[in-house]
Amino acid sequence: MMFIVRSFLPVIRLYLLGLKVLLIQLFSRTFRLPVMPRQDGKVAIVTGGGRGIGYEVVRHMASLGVHVIIGGKDEQEGQTAVRKICQEYKEAKVEFELLDLASLQSVHQFVQSFKHRGLPLHILINNAGIMLVPEGRTQSGFELHFGVNYLGHFLLTWLLLDTLKDSGRTGHCSRVVTVSSSAHSIGKIVLNDLNSSQFYSAHAAYCQSKLAQLVFSAQLQQELQRGGFPVTSCAVDPGVVNTALYQHLWTPLRLVHGTLAPWFLRTPAEGAATVLYTALSPALEGELGGGYWADGCKEMTSPPTFDPELQLSLWESSLQLLGLRWHQMKE
Ligand SMILES: NC(=O)c1ccc[n+]([C@@H]2O[C@H](COP(=O)([O-])OP(=O)(O)OC[C@H]3O[C@@H](n4cnc5c(N)ncnc54)[C@H](OP(=O)(O)O)[C@@H]3O)[C@@H](O)[C@H]2O)c1
Repeated sequence: MMFIVRSFLPVIRLYLLGLKVLLIQLFSRTFRLPVMPRQDGKVAIVTGGGRGIGYEVVRHMASLGVHVIIGGKDEQEGQTAVRKICQEYKEAKVEFELLDLASLQSVHQFVQSFKHRGLPLHILINNAGIMLVPEGRTQSGFELHFGVNYLGHFLLTWLLLDTLKDSGRTGHCSRVVTVSSSAHSIGKIVLNDLNSSQFYSAHAAYCQSKLAQLVFSAQLQQELQRGGFPVTSCAVDPGVVNTALYQHLWTPLRLVHGTLAPWFLRTPAEGAATVLYTALSPALEGELGGGYWADGCKEMTSPPTFDPELQLSLWESSLQLLGLRWHQMKE
């Protein structure tokens, strides 16, 4: 009985939440990105920028003069994205670099090769993600959602922090934007089983990873403010967007989704609007930086995001899992 409840409860909760969010989305106005100023001279990294929301983020940034590096694990998809954007915007500076967030070694290599070039870094978009994938482990043995969506991005951000700090100025802070989801609101962080080893539910694992991203984003913002560094960290919910993220839905639902999604879900460009706003808007400096954003507005998140005990425990567990040390942050 307990097994059935544990298996089905996260499924029902996630689909009910999805339906609620979709209905609200259908009856409210879609946020349109205001015209953003040119961004020549800025450098950005966008994870998972080869398709979906990430692709639209890269495309728009490149059109404004940002030098964008797509970090992704599918080279062919990434290079195709680069070609398409360069055909559309002749002056675009877009590149692809291999980055597999499921491999800590790949994250280290990506950062090493980026730093080797001596470029500044003004914007980091932690966008790549997976949802409802069958039970599996990353190369380092972490549960896939937790490892890719959360730990991979934690490590990437951590290793790039010094460059982000060096590239920011007061009034022109570097920005870390983490693409989370409204699914965080039903997520639960199981501190004694972060890798879902005792019990696996793909739905619960996705929600946990999205809540963990939010807790990380909030804690990072606090640490950056405390240290007086010219970097801000915020999280974004892009809404319910028609992308390949839904490819692992239960087959009958996937068929329904495939038919209805083009009519009822946001387009990837609409999903990218708030991500771009938080990454580029000059209005979001100082006090207005940080937080959790949806539909172009700062929103409240679920209480666990600001639970100091949970923040600290998750932060420390993550550092330990990744073999990092706290003091590196404070330098
Ligand atoms: N779509 C929605 O309704 C929705 C709602 C809320 C939140 N989000 C969030 O939005 C973000 C973007 O998702 P999307 O909807 O644009 O989905 P998508 O089209 O499936 O894009 C996901 C991207 O992540 C990349 N990725 C996956 N695993 C990776 C790994 N191990 N290393 C590096 N890159 C990897 C994928 O690259 P590959 O092709 O190489 O796998 C792909 O480029 C995700 O974080 C998602 O959780 C989406």
